[in-house]
Amino acid sequence: MRAWVVPPGAKGVDDLQRIERPDPQPGPGQVVVRVRARSLNYRDQLVASGTYFGAPNTRELIPLSDGAGDVAAVGPGVSRFRVGDRVAGCFFQRPRDAAPDAPPLALGSPLDGTLADYVVLNDDGVVAVPEGLSYEEAACLPCAGVTAWHALFRAGRPVRPGDNVLVLGTGGVSIFALQFARAAGARVVATSSSDEKIARLRGMGVSDAINYKRTPEWEKEVLRATGRGVDCVVEVGGGGTFARSLQSLARGGKVCLIGFVAGRGGDTSPYPLMGKAGSLHGIFVGDREMFEEMNRAIAVNGLKPVVDRVFGFEEAKQAFALHASGRFFGKVVIGA
Ligand SMILES: NC(=O)c1ccc[n+]([C@@H]2O[C@H](COP(=O)([O-])OP(=O)(O)OC[C@H]3O[C@@H](n4cnc5c(N)ncnc54)[C@H](OP(=O)(O)O)[C@@H]3O)[C@@H](O)[C@H]2O)c1
Repeated sequence: MRAWVVPPGAKGVDDLQRIERPDPQPGPGQVVVRVRARSLNYRDQLVASGTYFGAPNTRELIPLSDGAGDVAAVGPGVSRFRVGDRVAGCFFQRPRDAAPDAPPLALGSPLDGTLADYVVLNDDGVVAVPEGLSYEEAACLPCAGVTAWHALFRAGRPVRPGDNVLVLGTGGVSIFALQFARAAGARVVATSSSDEKIARLRGMGVSDAINYKRTPEWEKEVLRATGRGVDCVVEVGGGGTFARSLQSLARGGKVCLIGFVAGRGGDTSPYPLMGKAGSLHGIFVGDREMFEEMNRAIAVNGLKPVVDRVFGFEEAKQAFALHASGRFFGKVVIGA
């Protein structure tokens, strides 16, 4: 099969190598998925540059956590799926030989991921993809979609109709959060560095969109626009935005700590949470149950993941480059 790998000691996307590997065979309880499309997440850039969780890559690794395709073969004992089913892999997988209390491991680091023709998964680490989505759209769901779903509906008090939700920037997690929040009847306030992207946000039902470059104190604008602050912040900025996210909260609101696109450092005081009786939730993607729950909501509401551009398999480096540039809206996909 075709595969791209991050070699040991890789320092960036230029080091990605296109190789051939034998087609995998399923073991007991496993399925082989013919991957038709994959999507990029912020972490994939860190994996490619050897800086994910601060650790350089030490083996030849197939990157990317997210992919969708169809079941090409099933091993003995598999009853959940049949050959031909349209599926996506869960971000977290539980290796068959893992101790019962061992934490699950993620595709695309440390486990081999989806930037290959095939991936072998345990059948309990696979979900059916929602009817009506293309492979390219379904490939956007496993990390960004499930993370947004977890933040809005599973962390603390679920977002309700009439709530105010703040999303930061226009990357994968934030655009899913926008779509889910709107489908749940919430009002969405968003930030972006680009007026062009702000126009697209408005077209997706965002009530107030703030250019965080032109309005660095955007939290004041969030409070002015909402009157009482927001009930949920989808906090993907990290050190560069966390203090302003706390200031943006309404009484009883929650901040879902997800990422660090605006920097990891900082010494933000958490005390504003106290006065607002707010809460802080660390989110790390989510489990299969959340993925399946989200898929039902996507099907019922006819939601479509927002795909900026689809690259060919041999154009993986160009896909990484576009994603690294920030000149995209939603998701960047690598197809067949
Ligand atoms: N904890 C978890 O389970 C989990 C899961 C998924 C992702 N994450 C993390 O969440 C973050 C977002 O991931 P992603 O894959 O959605 O990212 P992404 O698709 O790469 O999107 C990045 C976007 O962030 C926005 N951005 C950059 N600097 C910003 C700033 N100073 N303020 C506000 N927005 C800013 C930009 O939007 P504009 O171009 O509109 O300015 C950019 O397009 C990353 O740190 C990632 O590692 C964590």
